[in-house]
Amino acid sequence: MKFFIETFGCQMNENDTERIQFLLENSGHEQTVDISESDVVILNTCTVRESAKNRQYGHLGNLKKIKNLKKDLLICIGGCAAQDLKQKIIKDFPYVDIVFGTQNIADLPDLINRRISTGRSICSIEDNGFDPELFKVRRKHNFKALVPITIGCDNYCSYCIVPMVRGNERSIEAEKILRTIEELVFDGAVEVTLLGQNVNSYGKNLKKPYTFSELLEKISDIKGLKRIRFMTSHPKDFSNDLIDVVKNKDNIAKHIHLPLQAGSDKILKEMNRNYTRKDYFGIIENIKNKIPDCAITTDIIVGFPGEEKEDFLKTMDMVKKIRFNRAFTFIYSPRAGTRAAGMEDRITMDEKKQWFRQLLEIQNTISFEENNKLIGRRFEVLVEGNSSKNNTLLEGRMENNTIVNFEGESNLTGKIIPVIVKSARTFYVKGKLARDY
Ligand code: 5AD
Ligand code: SF4
Repeated sequence: MKFFIETFGCQMNENDTERIQFLLENSGHEQTVDISESDVVILNTCTVRESAKNRQYGHLGNLKKIKNLKKDLLICIGGCAAQDLKQKIIKDFPYVDIVFGTQNIADLPDLINRRISTGRSICSIEDNGFDPELFKVRRKHNFKALVPITIGCDNYCSYCIVPMVRGNERSIEAEKILRTIEELVFDGAVEVTLLGQNVNSYGKNLKKPYTFSELLEKISDIKGLKRIRFMTSHPKDFSNDLIDVVKNKDNIAKHIHLPLQAGSDKILKEMNRNYTRKDYFGIIENIKNKIPDCAITTDIIVGFPGEEKEDFLKTMDMVKKIRFNRAFTFIYSPRAGTRAAGMEDRITMDEKKQWFRQLLEIQNTISFEENNKLIGRRFEVLVEGNSSKNNTLLEGRMENNTIVNFEGESNLTGKIIPVIVKSARTFYVKGKLARDY
């Protein structure tokens, strides 16, 4: 059968999609990018905020129309929203054939066979524990790879549904990660991105305890590996050792994504983040002192229950002082089952939107100013392919994660090449291939 798959949400979901592709191809199915010729449609869903869920519901509505024309089409819903809603999806959308969870992806080929032979819809959300075949994936590019190092999360930030839908934190054995990355490099990978909800707590529950810094150091010793990225870091577990490893190893990208979430101690406490604004400032100061060129990006939530104007102004103050290269900003979205969903919230949505716009405006100005500082400098860029915005240009990433567009031949894709920055925009820069290349 031909399957079409659409992915929502974070890089962990992207990685799960790569696993689904591998499993289905291994069972004799074939992927298609044309939904109209597919026999199976899979939505790999996200539930981190309500807006993501609403978009996915829109897609489900469209799928109903397609299914009306093609009765045999199988519709499968997986990922975090599926894990969260379970049977409710089939109740609300009776034309859905299979609902599967985040922890039983490996069952999907069997579930498809079962659905066909019994004719009945299936909701199978099981915790099958650790999937030993986690690294069997079908990747789009062989020059870069996503590598999960932990699954799940134990932090229970009070707004966050992730621990409920991805389960408790489990670390993958270091030996297994190292062997996998060696194989990836052998197959042509020059860049790996290590994934975890909180990479800094890596290894705590392993039989032989391991720290993230130790793992990172070992990975960076793998010959032929040119670039290592990792996300997401959590300020409460962020160690000084880690800054030293990033500084000392040439192939670790000088970019740290460190979600701040809020700038007021009162709100950080209510969020159960386990650090103060002073702690966060301290980490930033250490990073900037030791690695002056390091890019720092963040996530911020506006309008958490109980956040008053003065709390919001403390977030604005930190944003102005720290000058993040980029910030991903979100209006708080209550998630059923989380502690924050039951907290009193007196600020109106209009006011939250106004704060959100103010934050965005100041951050966009900062991002633009920081990008302007790159003009005239030369950077090594990993070419990722043609630009999504302008097909005649190539798009690549600098070590510090800044996106750069420039003219060049498509056969440069997958190579690391020198580019001189010529002009800046808010979210990317434009450049020119260095003459000596
Ligand atoms: N509402 C708004 N933003 C959220 N995030 C996580 N949960 C919520 C929520 N309930 C944001 C956090 C996190 C990012 C991935 O999504 O900023 O770091
Ligand atoms: Fe959610 Fe907090 Fe875990 Fe991140 S660290 S996934 S925000 S609970």
